[in-house]
Parts: sequence; C-alpha cells; structure tokens
Amino acid sequence: MSGERARKFIATKEHRRFTEFAEAVRKHRYVGLCYGAAGGGKTLSARRYAHWDLAGPYVEAWAGRRRDPLRAKVRSALARSRTIFHTPSVLGTLRDLKETLGEHITRVDTCIDDHLYGHVKCRAITRDEFHIEMLIVDEAERLSVTALEFIRDIFDRRGVDVILIGMPGMEKRLSRYPQLYSRVGFAHHYGLCKAMNSRSS
Ligand SMILES: Nc1ncnc2c1ncn2[C@@H]1O[C@H](COP(=O)(O)OP(=O)(O)O)[C@@H](O)[C@H]1O
Ligand SMILES: [Mg+2]
Repeated sequence: MSGERARKFIATKEHRRFTEFAEAVRKHRYVGLCYGAAGGGKTLSARRYAHWDLAGPYVEAWAGRRRDPLRAKVRSALARSRTIFHTPSVLGTLRDLKETLGEHITRVDTCIDDHLYGHVKCRAITRDEFHIEMLIVDEAERLSVTALEFIRDIFDRRGVDVILIGMPGMEKRLSRYPQLYSRVGFAHHYGLCKAMNSRSS
C-alpha cells in the first residue's frame, strides 16, 4: 500500500498549497487546521510532506530496524522533515494515543539524532536537544476533548507545531474549545484539485 502510494503521487496545486500552509504553520508557530471533503488528497499530501510512506512503516515496526536496509534513508528523510504523521484509531482511548504517539515521538527523535550525531563517538547519554518540529494529526475529528488537550500540551511544552486534518466542520467543533482554539493561527481549506477530478472521471 505504501509503495503504491509513493509511486502514484502527483504534485498537484492543492498539494503545493498544503506545503505552503505547513511552512506557514512552522514559521509562525501556531496550530493549523486543514479541512476538506473526503477524497481530496489531504492524507496523501500530509504523508508526502512528512515522508511518512518511507518512515512510517519503519517507525511503526521499530523491532528489527538495525538490519533494515532503509535505515539510513529513513533517518535522513526524518532529519529533513522533522515531522511525525499520526492517525488516531477509531474509538481509540486517550491511553492508546499517549502510548502510540509517545513511542513514535521517541523513535523519530532517536532517528533524527542518529542521523545528526550517529558518527560522534563520545556523545553525552543525556541530551536536552529535541529534534521534532511538527506533528500532523489526520482524522482529527476522532480526537476526544482530552485527547485534544493532550495534543495542545505537546504543542505548548515541547514546542512542536501542530496541524490537525479533518472534514469540513472540524473548525467549528474545535472553536468550542478555547484552550486549543486560541492557538489556532488559521484554517486551510484543502480543495478538490482539478487535475485529480479529471483523472478520476
Ligand atoms: N496528489 C495525489 N496523487 C495521486 N493520487 C491522489 C492524490 N491526491 C489524492 N489522490 C487519490 O485520491 C484518493 C484519496 O486521497 P486521500 O489523501 O485519502 O484523501 P482525503 O484524505 O482528503 O480523504 C487517494 O487514494 C488517491 O487515489
Ligand atoms: Mg484522509
């Protein structure tokens, strides 16, 4: 599935707009909302931006990574994107989210650190540097209020910029939670790309 996705990806205008939006979120340090109709390409764009088709399977599996031939490629891709892509499971609990996301944060940070400092022989075991800059949460309408609060805490305490992706109407729902909404910079509408429409027709 992931290989197929990577092969077929088309850099549409909507994808370029998504990339610009993500860069703006990074630059201005706020939470960004991205919403649009199903099938528009939001998930594919975000995965592409995060190099997640390459890094996702590696980060998710983790065991056996020492022998993975893609190890160097994944580390270098993550060092460039500094981004985690996460899809909450349907009916997932807060505990699931904390565990999975916590694990992925540690793993991605380790990958980037290995890429940057793997060659340094006497690296201090304790390090303060945190390398992850962006968290993209897909299907964000699956998040409960406490889960949104958990994400906001990552944004505040760890200084990680956040993009929440969902369906139209998500921005209205989120506006009811001032704790999170006060950090939202702007909402980006992911439109249906003409090229994609003509492709599918
Ligand atoms: N940039 C793209 N390149 C190639 N195919 C795309 C692209 N964007 C969307 N698609 C097609 O549309 C389908 C739905 O895209 P997806 O990212 O899952 O939409 P959304 O997350 O907005 O619901 C994909 O499975 C793919 O077939
Ligand atoms: Mg999607």
